[in-house]
This record gives sequence, C-alpha cells and structure tokens, in this order.
Amino acid sequence: MIRETKRVDEMNYFELIAWLGIGSSHPGGFPATKQNLDVIGVRPEEYLLDAGCGSGLTACYLAKTIGCKIIGIDINPHMIEKARLRAEKEGVSHLVDFRAADVYELPFEDNHFDVVLAESITVFLDKEKVYQEFYRVLKPEGRVADLEMALLKDLPVIVRRQMEECFGLGTNPLSFEEWGNALAQAGFQNVEIKNPQPLRDNSNVVLNELKKDWVLVKDLMNKLHRQPRLLPRLQKNASFMKRNRSYYGFGLIYGRKPLPSPPVKLGFKDWVRNVIFRRKPKKFN
Ligand SMILES: C[S@@+](CC[C@H](N)C(=O)[O-])C[C@H]1O[C@@H](n2cnc3c(N)ncnc32)[C@H](O)[C@@H]1O
Repeated sequence: MIRETKRVDEMNYFELIAWLGIGSSHPGGFPATKQNLDVIGVRPEEYLLDAGCGSGLTACYLAKTIGCKIIGIDINPHMIEKARLRAEKEGVSHLVDFRAADVYELPFEDNHFDVVLAESITVFLDKEKVYQEFYRVLKPEGRVADLEMALLKDLPVIVRRQMEECFGLGTNPLSFEEWGNALAQAGFQNVEIKNPQPLRDNSNVVLNELKKDWVLVKDLMNKLHRQPRLLPRLQKNASFMKRNRSYYGFGLIYGRKPLPSPPVKLGFKDWVRNVIFRRKPKKFN
C-alpha cells in the first residue's frame, strides 16, 4: 500500500502518477503501446528491458501475450511496488521481474537484452546519456523502441514554461528528426520513427486512464476528498494539453545496435608499413 506522505502540490509529475496508480502514462495510452508492439515483433525467446516501466502494464501484457522474459526498472519504488502487485495478480511473476533502478546507470552487464523498450521517459531526461545506456545493455543486433512525445513545430517560450510547470523542469520533447539523430548519435543504425502521429483530442493520458478503470475512479474519489488540490492540478494539465495539442505528436523511435565490426585483415603492404613505422628508434649514446 502506497503511503501518502506529500501534499499534491509538493508532488512532482512522476510522484503524482505513481500515487494515482496510472497504468499507461504515455502519449496515445495503451492503444499506442499495442500498435507499437505489432511493429517491434517481440519473440517468446527474447529477453526485454522496459526502462521506466511505471506500474508495469506493458511489461505484464508482453509476458502474458508473448510469454517472453522481461525486466522492468523504474526509479520510483512506489511504481515498482505496484508493478510487482500487478505481475502477481496477472500470474506472470515467473516471467517478469521489477526492480528500482536509475536508467542512467542500469544495473546490467553489457550486451544483455534483445530489446529495450521505453515509453515516455527519455523526454524528461538527458537523451544522450539514456541512449548510451540503452546501447550498452543491448546485444549486437538488439532493438531499441522508445515511444516519445515529439514537437511538430517550435514551442513558444511561454508554452514551454507552462509545459514545464505541468510535467516538470527539463521536460524536452524533440522534433521527429532530432529524436532520430539522438538515437543515431548513440551508435544505433537503421533508425526510423515508426507510427508517427499527431496528438488527438482524447490524448489527455491521465484523465483517459482514470476514466477507463473503475477501481481507479473509486480510489480517486477518496483521494479528491483527502486532497482537494488534486482536481485543480489534474485540470491544469488537461487544459494545457487541450490548448496546445497542435504542437505535439508522438512516435516510436526505433533502431538497431550494429554487430561489432570485424577485425581488419592486414595485407602484405600493411604488414611492411607496420613493421617500418612501429620499429623503435635506435638509441644513440
Ligand atoms: C511518464 S511515466 C511513464 C511510465 C511508463 N513507461 C508508462 O508508459 O506508463 C515516466 C516514468 O519514468 C520513471 N523515471 C523517471 N526518471 C527515471 C530514471 N532516471 N530512471 C528510471 N526511471 C525513471 C518515473 O518514475 C515514471 O514512472
């Protein structure tokens, strides 16, 4: 059971969604996840990482439908607590493992996973560092698939400020082209944006998720009663997205880690050149 230690106004965006227990807090919600999983084509024998897994909805769905092994990590221990409960309830604890960890320092060896999934986490963080970590833990030929918010046009300064007020300082969606470049710079190949789309009218993730789930709605009533600032906070985020929807889209930033390049074979000429240039200079007394 998650303790309520903070007032709503003191919670950052991540703490708020963890406390509310939102399952799919990314653009496009769970339908976008399903659409993306179709193009990623995960196989049962593959080993996956869900980086910034939240309450584990995607990870448990994959375990249930594909039967693959998957580890979800999240920096927020409340999310991990919820994710573990979900895995237990859905009978997939033997396939899914959830751990509290920081995506900047993933507690895994190099070349470990076949697929790294992420949904709405990189947008809040340092893209270069995150993608370097994804690259490190992926096996050669492994795929990265990151569902993120994208900018369709430049954000006016005032809109950027409001966005940061709603989602946290440093929230920084890139254009589709910039997202692709960030992945390529980390060393990924065959980079493309899959399923790019504009935000639709119904894209207020938090409210949509709440509406779908009766348990969440019931719980929300208690929370609203205890914390009257919750409703204005949710309304503020919802009305920001409604007003500024035309700036935003989302898509799956997708790429593959290349195989290590084979060692270069030396020809006779290279060998002679090496011998000549590597020869230590004579010492003169
Ligand atoms: C917007 S939520 C998305 C959660 C989940 N992927 C989903 O789509 O529902 C972002 C998640 O990233 C986690 N997060 C933020 N910074 C992190 C970090 N440095 N390392 C790991 N997780 C982080 C937050 O705790 C939060 O659960």
